[in-house]
Amino acid sequence: MSSVSISDAPVTLKDGRGVRLATYRDEDKEGLVSMYASMSPEAIKWGLPPYDRARIERWTSDLTNRIILIARLEERIVGHLQIFRIPDERRKGVTELFIYIHQDVQNLGLGTMMMKKAIELAKERGFHRIGLSVVADNHRAINVYQKVGFKKEGIARETFFGEDNRYHDEVEMGLLLR
Ligand SMILES: CC(C)(COP(=O)(O)OP(=O)(O)OC[C@H]1O[C@@H](n2cnc3c(N)ncnc32)[C@H](O)[C@@H]1OP(=O)(O)O)[C@@H](O)C(=O)NCCC(=O)NCCS
Repeated sequence: MSSVSISDAPVTLKDGRGVRLATYRDEDKEGLVSMYASMSPEAIKWGLPPYDRARIERWTSDLTNRIILIARLEERIVGHLQIFRIPDERRKGVTELFIYIHQDVQNLGLGTMMMKKAIELAKERGFHRIGLSVVADNHRAINVYQKVGFKKEGIARETFFGEDNRYHDEVEMGLLLR
């Protein structure tokens, strides 16, 4: 887990509300469980549910190989981004990322800000690359990833079975950090 500290100053959403970014600590676990428990079906439409306590326990184990960034609106966790470093010598510095923003604060600039901060932290940790995959129809997410420098690298055909009972393609994206 990153020991890098980040500024305590709030960042301002497009609607004027202030949100604080921080790296994850053990006492944040319940807040994270609550955030995912209150995500709307629409917000996780392109995700891989269930986002239950067991999943969050897995995400918050093996902290040495992760950067976990959270965003707080007052006391409530409303954003979660995670980078996982693949612990294999032949994947040195190669990482994978995902991000979830609660529906109450989506489309207000928070995802973009968290991505930028995560890239800074990944560079400070000396990571080489961040990769991710995203459902091709998740246009907002792809927009954000491209805005912060990720490139489309390929298409995995029909790997995601949606709530519409159809298969969707996923876009593989990556950012080289050095
Ligand atoms: C995708 C997600 C991380 C983006 O974070 P966010 O805080 O909502 O996004 P931001 O407000 O920072 O930026 C959204 C950008 O996309 C644009 N956008 C919004 N809807 C869009 C759409 N349907 N198509 C294309 N662009 C869109 C916005 O205009 C904005 O761009 P701008 O800042 O240049 O105006 C967030 O919405 C989320 O968590 N969604 C649900 C979970 C998810 O899909 N996670 C990703 C799984 S890979």
